[in-house]
Formats: sequence, structure tokens, C-alpha cells
Amino acid sequence: MAKRVVLAYSGGLDTSVAVRWMIENLGLEVICLSADVGQEGTLEGNREKALGAGAIAYEQLDLRAEFADEYLAPIIKANALYEKQYPLVSALSRPLIVKHQVALARKYGADGIAHGCTGKGNDQVRFEVSSMALAPDLELIAPVRNWGFSREDSIEYAALHNIPVGATKEKLYSIDDNLWGRAIECGEMEDPWAEPPAGVWQMTQLTETEPREVTLSFYEGVPVGIDGTTLPLFELITTLNHIVGSYGYGRLDMVENRRVGIKSRETYEAPAALALMMAHADLEAITLERDLQREKIRLEHRYAEMVYDGLWFSPLRLALDAFIDSSQEFVTGDVRLRLEPNRCVVVGRRAPKSLYDYGLATYDSADRFRHADSEGFVRLWGLGVQTWSAVQGPGSKNS
Ligand code: ARG
Repeated sequence: MAKRVVLAYSGGLDTSVAVRWMIENLGLEVICLSADVGQEGTLEGNREKALGAGAIAYEQLDLRAEFADEYLAPIIKANALYEKQYPLVSALSRPLIVKHQVALARKYGADGIAHGCTGKGNDQVRFEVSSMALAPDLELIAPVRNWGFSREDSIEYAALHNIPVGATKEKLYSIDDNLWGRAIECGEMEDPWAEPPAGVWQMTQLTETEPREVTLSFYEGVPVGIDGTTLPLFELITTLNHIVGSYGYGRLDMVENRRVGIKSRETYEAPAALALMMAHADLEAITLERDLQREKIRLEHRYAEMVYDGLWFSPLRLALDAFIDSSQEFVTGDVRLRLEPNRCVVVGRRAPKSLYDYGLATYDSADRFRHADSEGFVRLWGLGVQTWSAVQGPGSKNS
């Protein structure tokens, strides 16, 4: 049984109660880690709350740049959308947090990793599988999964033990957010027929009505600039969240398949993520050779599933990254996005190594395509189905 654990500490009610609960019920020493991954809420006061709840140490890390460079850049290169829509917001921050929990476990001589996830979600899977992959020797502790507390029980437990938890007013939704977007669950939205109430949206409020264009620059598949200004990726994403979000663009409303077998209604806001991946995929359309592009599209779904299912640290994800990185050599160029209220579309793209050949594509007099070659090509291309039709298919019914 573990003696000392590193807890991923958000500063919310559950993780604050978890600190004391693990001390009292499991006899553990608890080290709290609060990570800045670009979420809206402040981490201010977390140190006092963690120590007040009984933690022996508190560490706070600004992981925004690492999150962008090591986790979001690969996702952009992969155009990774789970079930064709969800840009994997929560699925991406978990492995990063675990990586740092493990580092702290080594620093403090801890023998376990703890998290505040329930037993019904994906995040427990990501925390634990990431930990198993990085540090198979560490024990996994999930107090919230085992204690059987309702929200009222937790509030009562906090009061009883003088645990500072801040505002405990009725929590309407379960929210998780970071640089890459925001997930909003529960409340009215547990009825998949009910429209999400206007109040759930935060990053995507329509405040700009005057259409505008934004030019995004990419270097080897990674976004490097907005309108000619070069920015570190995490700043670029932050800036783009504001620009695109102010046009009300970037909302998702979907029912998704959780790893634990539950269908779940989820709403998301991810203005920069959706705009960046739309632009990136568009740039690939002019820079990737056809077969490479087709195969990559096939693998993108697999990549997204791996990440969603908690397998960030896995040999297949690493191998897919190697393939994707190799595909990005010429994905350098610019994409023009047009923003209008509730709308974001690509209106132009260019690349120094573009495979778009005007002489081949044009219908005007500059045409260099050898039209006569097509006759024989199409005849052989269709020969197989022509033979099939005559013998077994629709053509055979005529004889
Ligand atoms: N369903 C999403 C996912 O599995 C979002 C989870 C958000 N977590 C939360 N605690 N609200 O990635």
C-alpha cells in the first residue's frame, strides 16, 4: 500500500476533500500539483487550500508552452478529431499532468499517483493508463471513485474538517478547460434532445459583426504566425481563441462514445482548435501527394481514438507520430480564413512547395494536360467492372 502520493489538484471541492480523505482513510501523505494548462480559472489560493486540507507540499507549474509544443502541435499535424468532431481538449492535458506528477513522485520519493476523477468518465482512464505507461511501479489512487460521497456529503466533510474550499454554491455543469478548448457537461444537457442553454458558452460569444480575414502561417505542419506576426504556439492559440471566438464560432454539440461504454452528450467550445485544424488540413490538400494524403486521413481517426482512449504514451501513438512528422515536410505555407458571425471558412491557401499545378488544372489556353491520354487510361481503369457487368452484373441481364 502506498505511503505518499502526488495528487493532481485543481483546487475544487472534490480534490480538496480528497486530500484530507486520503490522509484520514488511507493514511497517506499527500503532495498536490496544480498545473496551468491555460484554463480560465485562476490557481491563486490553491497553495493555501492544499496545505489547509493537510497536504505536506504544494507545487504549481506553468505548463502552457509545453502543452502547446509537445501535445497540441502533434494534434494539429494529425488533424485529430475524435468521432470526427471533438478536438480532444481534456484528453490532451491529462498525459501532460501525469508526466509531471511522475516527476514529482520521483522528487518527493512518493510511491503513488492520485486523481479526483469519478468512475464514469474518460479522464480516470487517461490519468491511470498514462501513469502505468510512464511509471509502472507507481500505485494508482482514485478516492472520488471509492468514497461514495454525494456533492452534499463532500461539502459537509469539508466543513467538518475545516477544509477551505471557496464557493460551494450549486454547481450547474461539469466543466474542464484549457488552452485547447472547454468541455461542458451535465445539467439540462443530460437530455440529448434539449438545446444547450445560452449560459453554457463562454469562449464563443458573438461580439464581432464586421467580417474580417485572418492569415495563418504554418511551418512543417505547425502554426507559427497570425497575419504575418510570428508567435510562440501557446500565444498564437490564445490569440486565435479570442479572435475566432468573438465571431461565435467553435461550438460543438455531440453525443460521444466514452471509453467506459457510456454514450454521453457533450458540448464543447474550441474556436482556435477547430480553425487551426481546418486551415492545416486545407494546406495539406495542396502540399501532400494524393496517396500520402489519403493514408494520413485514414490514420488520423486512429490517432484521435488512441489519444481519447488514454494511450498517449504508447508505442502505436509514437509510431503514428513518426509517420505524421514525415508527412509534414512540405506543409509550409499560408491559409486565409474569413470570419463572419458564427462562421469561419477557408478562402485561400498558398505554399512554396504546392503541388497545385495551374497548367494541369486550368481550362483556359494555358492548359498543358494531355487530354488524349485519358482515353486509354479510363478504358483500362474501367475494364474490370466492364467485364464484371457483362458476365455477372447489370450487363449480363441483357443477353
Ligand atoms: N468528454 C470529454 C472527454 O472525455 C470531456 C471530459 C471533460 N471532463 C470533465 N471533467 N468535465 O475528453
